[in-house]
Amino acid sequence: MKKILVWDLPVRVGHWLMVGGFILAWLTSESESLRLVHVIAGATVFAVALFRLPWGFIGSRYARFADFVRGPAAVKEYAAGLMKLEPAHHVGHNPAGGWAIVLLLGLGILAGASGWAIYNDVGGHWLEELHEGLAATMLTVVLVHLVGVFTGSVLHGENLVSAMLSGRKNGSPEAAIPSQRPFALLVLLAWVVGAAWWMAN
Ligand code: HEM
Repeated sequence: MKKILVWDLPVRVGHWLMVGGFILAWLTSESESLRLVHVIAGATVFAVALFRLPWGFIGSRYARFADFVRGPAAVKEYAAGLMKLEPAHHVGHNPAGGWAIVLLLGLGILAGASGWAIYNDVGGHWLEELHEGLAATMLTVVLVHLVGVFTGSVLHGENLVSAMLSGRKNGSPEAAIPSQRPFALLVLLAWVVGAAWWMAN
């Protein structure tokens, strides 16, 4: 086992943009004077989550949904290993974490779309309630996600947070992805800036 490249640049930069956007959107959600900051932060989460959908099909090996969205049997098997404090090591996302990721992306898209509709005076009070409910659900999933990241890091003796920064995890050399995909990162950044600007106007 060596440290090998697993997460490409769009996955890593997209992830930390979502983290920053989510925290900022949450902190500014009640403030009238910081409404624009809230909209831009929420639009960032929305735009990254939307980009992640096609990237889940054309991205590098471990970014693909086919690599980490697994059926109930795989999730049960992983959970059984977790109960024995011996979870199977996955070079990419584990089967339980995979579903948290799907939920976070879906909630990011729904929360962003409902927020954008409210900002444009579409819908009524019910939509505001829905938007708040989606954001609160997302916070719950984020907390579960953090517990999963912490538990996975401890049980595998591998710091998953620094792996999401460096892109490198333990694995055999032939399991590494061949490229950081820098051009796709430029596409992601242009898309996020464009979408956030458009949604805030
Ligand atoms: C400080 C808070 C956070 C930390 C430390 C963190 C850490 C991580 C780590 C280590 C992974 C990789 C897990 C693995 O090895 O399988 C991951 C994946 C992921 N996290 Fe977080 N996370 C945080 C907050 C968030 C938030 C707020 C969101 C959504 C709004 C989020 C969405 C995701 C998604 C979508 C992935 C999958 C990445 C991909 O495949 O594109 N995370 N996170």
